[in-house]
Amino acid sequence: MRASLLNFIVCPQCAGPLDLKVSRIDDGDILDGLLRCDLCGNYPITDGVPRLLPAQGSVAAEARRTVDRFGAQWNDFDTIREHYEDQFLGWIRPNTRQSFAGKVVLEGGCGKGRHSALVAKYGAKEVIAIDLGSAVEAARRNTRHIHNVHVIQADLHHLPIRRQTIDIAFSVGVLHHTPTPRRAFDALAETVRPGGRMIVWVYGRENNGWIVHFVDPIRRRITSRLPHRWLFHASKIPASLVYGFARSLYGNGTSVHSSDAASRLYYGQYMRQLASFPFSEVHSIVHDHLTPAIAHYLPRREVESWFEGTHFKEVHVTWHNENSWAATGVRQEEAADRSPMTDQRAPRQAANGGKAAERAMETSDAESAPWLHDPQVHAVSPRVDPHVDTRLGAQAPAPDRHSERHSERHSERHLTP
Ligand SMILES: C[S@@+](CC[C@H](N)C(=O)[O-])C[C@H]1O[C@@H](n2cnc3c(N)ncnc32)[C@H](O)[C@@H]1O
Ligand SMILES: [Zn+2]
Repeated sequence: MRASLLNFIVCPQCAGPLDLKVSRIDDGDILDGLLRCDLCGNYPITDGVPRLLPAQGSVAAEARRTVDRFGAQWNDFDTIREHYEDQFLGWIRPNTRQSFAGKVVLEGGCGKGRHSALVAKYGAKEVIAIDLGSAVEAARRNTRHIHNVHVIQADLHHLPIRRQTIDIAFSVGVLHHTPTPRRAFDALAETVRPGGRMIVWVYGRENNGWIVHFVDPIRRRITSRLPHRWLFHASKIPASLVYGFARSLYGNGTSVHSSDAASRLYYGQYMRQLASFPFSEVHSIVHDHLTPAIAHYLPRREVESWFEGTHFKEVHVTWHNENSWAATGVRQEEAADRSPMTDQRAPRQAANGGKAAERAMETSDAESAPWLHDPQVHAVSPRVDPHVDTRLGAQAPAPDRHSERHSERHSERHLTP
């Protein structure tokens, strides 16, 4: 991460400000260090990735299993391929490359970071790529050379992002893998400033009855429970069938636009796209369908309702490849009494003489924070174990947000073991 990220991040548990202590930095890239919330404790930065994880027990078991399995998947299939760009532009329609120029962008569920890398290429000002699982290691490998991409390990349901500071929040192929897609959507929407934009792509219910009735039970009961290595190899069998079927029936594999007749067949557009991919990519896609513990297939009406509930305008919901929904909208101004730069903690927590709010103001401007450039501060040895376990649930118990314990603001509570 780079210091400019401090403009946007907050504590995932109380939404309060974070102090930075750097222990290893390379050309402005903070490799190891600590982010400290004076209410909740320390969050390590390791291998360039801030681990802003929620407290132990706050991620449901099925959700944890889903991200663990995706983590293994993205670290195996971590290559960035050329055709990802066309695919991405399809998923975000009617937005285009130009939509991102000069914007602060948040990606919810970045996987191996392929889309954050593209958005940076399109001229985004800052790109914040969040994933809950070990996929962040692959994302970091794929983006560490891009100076304005920051990878964070965090949960969509406990987003460590200052509200209303993001120009564009996007999430491709993620919300349907969370226990409550609507809640994940709302959490992302909270980060978007009025006039900013949400972009999501999710699995559709329409036209996917065969998956819901036949593939899904197998995924839930069998494939999502197989050890990752086994599934990696076993999924080559259905991948070969899909690959052979797509290439023989839907196209010659040289062009997505090769046959108009093929596109009129069931799943025509989608299968023609698959036919143009190398086998390893079809394998990755089939694996992606079989590995997660959670996968929802969402009807159009539900996706539309997300945008109604959070007061979006200029909403477009597009049926993509006749099997999924690409949706986007602009966040309306709201009669909010809270500005994005004020303390976001619950009133109970903020009632500390406004000090937290002042701190939020101070620490939010990394450029003007002299301590960031102070070699003494960088030399501080953080209380971080280099072998700290950043897997989910490896942290200390959650603070009881409804108890009096929070009044002990200065008691030493560290999230790192
Ligand atoms: C199918 S992958 C898509 C990744 C990426 N958007 C892409 O298209 O390449 C879904 C990703 O969402 C992440 N994810 C699922 N639930 C999450 C949550 N609650 N918070 C953050 N990330 C989550 C998973 O770890 C996984 O990497
Ligand atoms: Zn906190």
